[in-house]
Amino acid sequence: MIQDELIATAKALVADHKGLLAMDESTGTCNKRFAEFDIPQTEEMRRKYRELIVTTSGLNQSISGAILFDETIRQQQLDGTPFIKILIDAGIIPGIKLDLGAKPLAGFPGEKVTEGLDGLRKRLVEYKEMGARFAKWRAVINIGDGLPTAGGILANAHALARYAGLCQEVGLVPIVEPEVLMDGDHSLQHCLTVTSEVLHIVFEALYSQRILLDGMLLKPNMILPGLEAKVQESVDEVAEATVKCLLNNVPATVPGIAFLSGGQSAELATERLNAMHKKYKADLPWALTFSYGRALQQPALEIWRGDDANKEAAQQALIHRAKLNRAACMGIYTS
Ligand code: 13P
Repeated sequence: MIQDELIATAKALVADHKGLLAMDESTGTCNKRFAEFDIPQTEEMRRKYRELIVTTSGLNQSISGAILFDETIRQQQLDGTPFIKILIDAGIIPGIKLDLGAKPLAGFPGEKVTEGLDGLRKRLVEYKEMGARFAKWRAVINIGDGLPTAGGILANAHALARYAGLCQEVGLVPIVEPEVLMDGDHSLQHCLTVTSEVLHIVFEALYSQRILLDGMLLKPNMILPGLEAKVQESVDEVAEATVKCLLNNVPATVPGIAFLSGGQSAELATERLNAMHKKYKADLPWALTFSYGRALQQPALEIWRGDDANKEAAQQALIHRAKLNRAACMGIYTS
């Protein structure tokens, strides 16, 4: 029964070339994004911003699911309608970020491990009752001098697998997100090597924790040169390296892979996804889509800037990016 539910939800999240909207910034991260535009960092402004997003009409034509933060899943529109109900009524599947953030890993200077496993079973039951059908947990892997270490990767892979098991126990589809960060001056080749190793170890951990692979989704980074790398490869080179890495490391039974944007510009995140579909569509055993945060929302946030007068224009910007990314999932995007 639960297995059928997991498989059906995972498939629905990646059906019809749609993608996910990662609107699950923690309070700290959301405040950081607000600070860039001098938006007051209050609970009410975060509520207004999330209301702008969930009430964007037509979002469901490109977005299959929305990942929420704990504060957001409990918030409501001014008339008292919970955000989660607005999403469900629009045919958008609600999900919840479960991790409590990456904290320094003891004994591994420069590396982090994601926390939040303690008490997770109880939290999952509450979120499920509220209507969430999937979840997210982000592990952070830093490329640096001698980093990541095997111990650092293993600790994160183990936590991801433990989280995934607890999600599947109650019928929530786990999105497994091991993010290899773009920060640094490493080459694309180096990102490929590290990401391949990370994915290999993550799937080994998922296997050992008996995770149903057809009832989960993977949320990886694309294979990119570091932000400060001298050589910045072309869109086609990124697409080729990324598809190659995923084909080598992600079992075909996983129904979908949904990329994080990780600080890429909104345009590049779309162009690179489009190139993967344009060139390799016939080779992909899983649905390949987006689960962007910044690459979907940043243009809208920049327009909104906390001013109600800009709400509609911001909603248009959000829907525009969502549509373009759906087009990219069909390999038919043009800027
Ligand atoms: P970005 O697309 O902004 O990287 O956010 C995706 C996400 O969910 C990070 O955990």
